[in-house]
Amino acid sequence: MMGSVSFRTIIEPFRIHSVEPVRMTSQEDRERMIRDVGFNVFGLRSDDVLFDLLTDSGTGAMSRDQWAGIQRGDESYAGSPSWYRFLESVQELFPFKHVIPTHQGRAAEKILFTVIGGPGKVVPNNTHFDTTRANVEATGAEALDLVIAEGLDPAALHPFKGNMDVERLEAFLQERSGDVPAVMMTVTNNSGGGQPVSLANLRATREVCDRFGVPLFLDACRFAENAWFIREREEGQQGREVADIVREMASLTDGMTMSAKKDGLANIGGWLAMNDDDLAEQCRTLLIRTEGFPTYGGLAGRDLEAVAQGLREVVDHDYLQYRIRSTAYLGEGLVNAGMPVVQPIGGHAVYIDARGLLPHIAPLQYPGQSLVVSLYETGGIRACEIGTVMFGRQPDGSERPAALDLVRLAIPRRTYTQSHIDYVIEVCERVSSKSAELGGYRIVDEPPSLRHFTAKFAPA
Ligand SMILES: Cc1ncc(COP(=O)(O)O)c(C=O)c1O
Repeated sequence: MMGSVSFRTIIEPFRIHSVEPVRMTSQEDRERMIRDVGFNVFGLRSDDVLFDLLTDSGTGAMSRDQWAGIQRGDESYAGSPSWYRFLESVQELFPFKHVIPTHQGRAAEKILFTVIGGPGKVVPNNTHFDTTRANVEATGAEALDLVIAEGLDPAALHPFKGNMDVERLEAFLQERSGDVPAVMMTVTNNSGGGQPVSLANLRATREVCDRFGVPLFLDACRFAENAWFIREREEGQQGREVADIVREMASLTDGMTMSAKKDGLANIGGWLAMNDDDLAEQCRTLLIRTEGFPTYGGLAGRDLEAVAQGLREVVDHDYLQYRIRSTAYLGEGLVNAGMPVVQPIGGHAVYIDARGLLPHIAPLQYPGQSLVVSLYETGGIRACEIGTVMFGRQPDGSERPAALDLVRLAIPRRTYTQSHIDYVIEVCERVSSKSAELGGYRIVDEPPSLRHFTAKFAPA
């Protein structure tokens, strides 16, 4: 592996095989285009975006071998060989008894929480991702975030800021374990800054769950990045195979939801897995009604092949070293550019503390949204607000500031080169130098749930 060679430069461990053009636009054009879509970057045409850092989900480049798998895809309705290759790849890392394919992560969440959720139930998690929260709440259940205190402090240097606050979990289960159908653990903790969870914390969480007879599920979207952080940062884990660490993570839980659009290195796909036979039966029944037959879920055979191959590639140490180092490179560049960023740098993204950068904008005037708009207008970069726009609206319709106002620059996997990232850093430098001039926003139109996708804004 590359790490054994002592050079300072950590390279992209691939050559470029086919290219896609990116389109330059002027600042004047971008100011008009963002105004035309109500200052919501989700409304932009992606052709009008130079660097699309909106999400790392499904936006990565597939490998030669994944494209070869696509050609091999077998589209039989039931029992396709592509399904068996998918199943084998999933169980190689996550040896759960039942694997239920879905078209993406939120479909797995919808099926799981439809079966186990409901009014009066509570699902604790380190931090719910937005679709996870929405799927829990859609059943009438409550989504409870119990990440450690350091996980809410953007400047706190803790190696595993995604960890569950096990004491609070225990105190909660003491009171309400009868209402808790499952505890979730999100690895890495996306909404909390892409921060990892340690094996020790997973073990401690497992132990508490066992004591109260509550199952533990992984929201495993970025399992390989999490395992790499464990290998790098957790005592006694250095030198271990990442695949081995992943299997240990799986062994500490009773099941998982997964979006293969992240560490499946695919453009679409996901699954739900568990050991419990009764739960699996109920989930499969719902799968057939909403996604498809249990050997394809919502996927084409060729998609199953892309995921099967992606899972083999994602645990490669050269890939993970490049992946985590290149994210840190962007983070370090932003710090030098004067941006306050969540520390330590996460796995799939760099999170800018917009409330810290723009203290003159009140949280209910959305400092994160202001920064997102400025990044687009200034340099054609599309980023994502993860703050009061995303989380501020309460189930009763009221609004309050989210715990943090972050802006996420998510890095698609194997897609952008180092000079692209140098450009992003330069744009951030310019935005940072004019931050005092940026103003807040107000929402002029919003849907009842998941408003950040479609809300329309106007300058406050
Ligand atoms: C932690 C986490 N959970 C669940 C999901 C949902 O997955 P999908 O987008 O495939 O529905 C995401 C997607 O971004 C995520 O980051």
